[in-house]
Amino acid sequence: MTAGPHQPVLYQEIIQALQPRPRGRYVDATLGAGGHAWGILQASSPDGLLLGLDVDPHALRLAAERLAPFGRRAILRRASYTTLREQLQTLGWQQVDGIVLDLGLSSMQLDTPARGFSFRHDAPLDMRFDPDQPLTAAHLVNTLEEAALADLLWRYGEERRARRVARAIARHRPITTTRQLAEIVAAVTTSGKRRMHPATRTFQALRIAVNRELANVEAVLPQAIEALAPGGRLAVIAFHSLEDRLVKHYLRSVSDRCTCPPEMPFCDCAAHARVRLLKPFPMRPGEEEVARNPRARSARLRVAEKLA
Ligand SMILES: C[S@@+](CC[C@H](N)C(=O)[O-])C[C@H]1O[C@@H](n2cnc3c(N)ncnc32)[C@H](O)[C@@H]1O
Repeated sequence: MTAGPHQPVLYQEIIQALQPRPRGRYVDATLGAGGHAWGILQASSPDGLLLGLDVDPHALRLAAERLAPFGRRAILRRASYTTLREQLQTLGWQQVDGIVLDLGLSSMQLDTPARGFSFRHDAPLDMRFDPDQPLTAAHLVNTLEEAALADLLWRYGEERRARRVARAIARHRPITTTRQLAEIVAAVTTSGKRRMHPATRTFQALRIAVNRELANVEAVLPQAIEALAPGGRLAVIAFHSLEDRLVKHYLRSVSDRCTCPPEMPFCDCAAHARVRLLKPFPMRPGEEEVARNPRARSARLRVAEKLA
């Protein structure tokens, strides 16, 4: 089964993981262009329902067009996935059978120069998923103290030359465009092993900070586990190690995979387990998918099933 043009990352794997069925209720908490949502609705025909969330009105518009053939089976809301519990309450959905979180930004957002996510285009330094939120990348770059900026680059970008980059940024303020920032960073860093652009880590760090990505993931995971019906599944795709580590640790902490040291005498992890992990390791895209879509390269999928 295909999702039409622009097949999303790990599409088959998501559909296999969720095993959508008629009458099921599903949430795509990061709707994007609606590719995964399309597959879930198709596989749960004729009467499965899907709630799709996104904070980006452009994404919602595209998804609404794509999912129009499913009529009222697709319920789309402009809302952050951090409000998942509230969104489900509004619909009167006590429990759901599957939830997808495809974290990070979409190709559509990355490839739209005006969104300011990419150093490959020259555009205002924006990087907001939600264009109505006040905080932009330009604000962070031009107002944070040098030490705070270095800390941000180190923590969210794992940029080894964080202090040097922060110093260069502080010296060149005000910085208003993506190209200006990319050139300033490139002048004081190198591209690293994988020949990525020298500004990759800086751009990643700013995007994570602008959109509070890690805090949001931390906020949604417990809500997602709580919302699942017994046997329901949560599938999370992460694109960078910070995010994946967070997902891995959280899912392990609520799973039946005990992480207590063997000498621990009173371990009762199994009794408190809320989920079973489908695999101990993340699933990765196959060679064929990476050849077709090189951006899929860093995707990692983890799936957990709610225990009774
Ligand atoms: C990788 S894309 C999802 C692509 C989607 N799976 C598809 O099939 O097209 C991630 C989406 O999550 C959205 N997003 C980011 N943070 C969000 C949040 N806190 N709440 C809801 N959506 C969010 C982004 O705007 C983006 O559209």
